[in-house]
Amino acid sequence: MRQLTANELRKAFIDFFVSKGHKRISGASLIPENDPTVLFTTAGMHPLVPYILGAEHPQGKRLTDYQKCIRTGDIDSVGDPHHLTFFEMLGNWSLGDYFKDEAIAYSFEFLTEVLGIDKDKLFVTIFKGDDEVPFDDVAKKAWMSHGIPEEHIYPKGREDNWWGPAGETGPCGPDSEMFIDTGRPACGPECGPGCKCGKYFEIWNDVFMGYRKEADGTYVEMARKCVDTGMGIERTVAILEGKKSVYETEVFQPIIREIEKLSGKKYGEEEETDKSIRIISDHVRTSVFILGDEKGVAPSNVGQGYILRRLIRRAVRHGKKLGIEGSFLPGLSNVVLELYGEPYPELLEHVDFIKEELGKEEAKFSETLVKGEREFEKMLPNLMKGQSRVISGRLAFKLYDTYGFPIELTEELATENGFSVDKEGFEEAFRKHQELSRSGAEQQFKGGLADHSEQTTALHTATHLLHAALRKVLGTHVGQKGSNITAERLRFDFTHPSPMTKEEIKEVEDLVNQWIAADYPVTVETMTLDEARANGAIAFFESKYGEKVTVYTIGNVSKEVCGGPHVTHTGDMGHFHILKEQSSSAGIRRIKAVLEK
Ligand code: ALA
Repeated sequence: MRQLTANELRKAFIDFFVSKGHKRISGASLIPENDPTVLFTTAGMHPLVPYILGAEHPQGKRLTDYQKCIRTGDIDSVGDPHHLTFFEMLGNWSLGDYFKDEAIAYSFEFLTEVLGIDKDKLFVTIFKGDDEVPFDDVAKKAWMSHGIPEEHIYPKGREDNWWGPAGETGPCGPDSEMFIDTGRPACGPECGPGCKCGKYFEIWNDVFMGYRKEADGTYVEMARKCVDTGMGIERTVAILEGKKSVYETEVFQPIIREIEKLSGKKYGEEEETDKSIRIISDHVRTSVFILGDEKGVAPSNVGQGYILRRLIRRAVRHGKKLGIEGSFLPGLSNVVLELYGEPYPELLEHVDFIKEELGKEEAKFSETLVKGEREFEKMLPNLMKGQSRVISGRLAFKLYDTYGFPIELTEELATENGFSVDKEGFEEAFRKHQELSRSGAEQQFKGGLADHSEQTTALHTATHLLHAALRKVLGTHVGQKGSNITAERLRFDFTHPSPMTKEEIKEVEDLVNQWIAADYPVTVETMTLDEARANGAIAFFESKYGEKVTVYTIGNVSKEVCGGPHVTHTGDMGHFHILKEQSSSAGIRRIKAVLEK
């Protein structure tokens, strides 16, 4: 096996797929555009959903990239040797071009020839079939044609070998996962790929996107089949380095060494200490990526900002547990910036923001952390006396409200002391207190990728018109900072220093409605980013490789680099109405608006 660093692996993967006729594309922001149902980009395919569903990609039918991803479903499991909130995914895609045979041939060649993995150590799983979709004989034969023996090919059901849709509806299909046998002893006769004991280490997944799940739950075969693959960088580096845990690799060791220095504790000697060290190293890495994203957000009580707040506060608490005194997160972020500044130059553009926000949030929380923990400890003897091992919602809310303890932190404290928390009671107290409850944020994880219904498509076009109108009425300093669309409304964040006046709001509304009434055609063209800019298109897209982009033009009023989809004519969109104009954060305003039919 070749030992590759994360940097070398990224390059080897991209070079390999470029040599196989793939175009290298830039990874997307961690904050999905126009997708109300997830807070973060969760997979390499996430920004490519419109193209998997049929839109033409400006770079063609074969693509490859590395994508920063965050999955927060397991946030509370971080601390064990395996879980991560942030990870990088390498991917190659066929958009209606090659399918199973070639995808598997590429995977096999990359694993054995580029990474030098011994074929005998390679195990794969394939879809075993059910009432709706047959056994994946094609994938099985493909693996066997490369000399993978039948005993290394494990057919499995939908729970294991079906990927997607990422949300309720959308592209999905059977997949084939690739595992490396670590050589450790099997945990029992049932042990095989997918077993939790760790003998088999999963590093890559080839998804054969042949189906689209409909809202009524049925699976429709897509005429144009796609391939979506995802290889986890951290996991692959671990296996290449012969490490059991991602935290032992060169990806995490520099961060861990710095935490050792700060705390005077050693990693690998005591489980509780290791857990705190892992939590801090994961959370600081993720926080730096959220803050340093091209659409970076600051800590807050909603959405992405709330996740960020939780991450920072949990890191601070575990820092204190390790005995680290004073502010340490801004300093620790230097190690992350050093590790990732090259593949993710956006981080270096936001160094000041990253450090400032880490420092601010750390200071804000440190002040009350000690008091809150003391309060909690004071209550413990009383709680211990009672029969119940449940902490009331009221109490959890008090810790939240007075000391800024995210509920998850209270739960963690409770668990450490043999208690659970009445979460429903907490939510109720919370709801009473604040309309913008975090459960709203949580709901967002449960959903999936945005649909591309008529309504969201129209609201997307309305967003472009709103953007253009704002620039006309307020000035060209207005720039998009975020966009979020549900079937009901659009939400648009933009740079502007002061609240809009009633007159300005009315003027913007009128302009948008005028443009809708003009029934402008919406056209799309493909060009390089430089050409797009030269043509006057607004572009928030950072192109790292001079790749081509799509530009949507609405009549003579708007031109933006964008992935779509959009209506073809503005005429039937309905009446545009601004519901609210409010502050989002310093220097950023937020508009919520609807299209009334
Ligand atoms: N989208 C697939 C995954 O995330 C490749 O595993």
